[in-house]
Amino acid sequence: MSRDRIKIGVLGSGKGSNYQAIADSIANGFLDAEIVCVISDVADAFILERARNNNTPAYYISGAPYKTKLEGKAEDEYIQVLLRHKVDIVVLAGFMRIIKKKMLEEFYRRIINIHPSLLPSFPGMEAWKQALSYGVKVTGCTVHFVDEGTDTGPIIIQKTVPVYDDDTPEKLHARIQVEEHKAYPEAIKLIANGSLEIEGRRVKYKN
Ligand code: GRF
Repeated sequence: MSRDRIKIGVLGSGKGSNYQAIADSIANGFLDAEIVCVISDVADAFILERARNNNTPAYYISGAPYKTKLEGKAEDEYIQVLLRHKVDIVVLAGFMRIIKKKMLEEFYRRIINIHPSLLPSFPGMEAWKQALSYGVKVTGCTVHFVDEGTDTGPIIIQKTVPVYDDDTPEKLHARIQVEEHKAYPEAIKLIANGSLEIEGRRVKYKN
């Protein structure tokens, strides 16, 4: 990993509020980093518009022929763009595809994801809906390193939110997102400062 400002490549499929939170935390000086490229598998994803508004190189690269994974020719194209921009870490911000072996090996322990639940509870899709229907009283978000499983990698940071009786999926997701927007910049800062040590499944904070 370079000793200069950490270079971040962001992958997202949707509205990009986490991308925006990271960009804002760089702009306000909380995070000493640079977002060098944003890639989306959805041509009209709002995350691409946000990137262009911030003058960040923004790419649409289709994930076809696959729907839920990044593999083959598309995976190669993603890797090429990320290498061309010399990214130190790859940040998944609402990227709706499973990352496969080739990319995991290329960026070993340098790909992170944010998930809208307290893992290992409620992996997979629409975790806030899963939490609501299960009836938990507390949920939250998790930033973790990405491994070959779905939402299974070593955990960097978790933040909690209460679940209220009158919650709807939308209200709960919005409450979780407020915490996501703090958790992601904090996790990236820990990586940028070289403050993390991974021992098996456990991620420890040095000092
Ligand atoms: C977030 O809730 C994140 O936890 C999940 O996808 C959503 C992305 O939201 N992985 P946004 O595109 O960053 O607003």
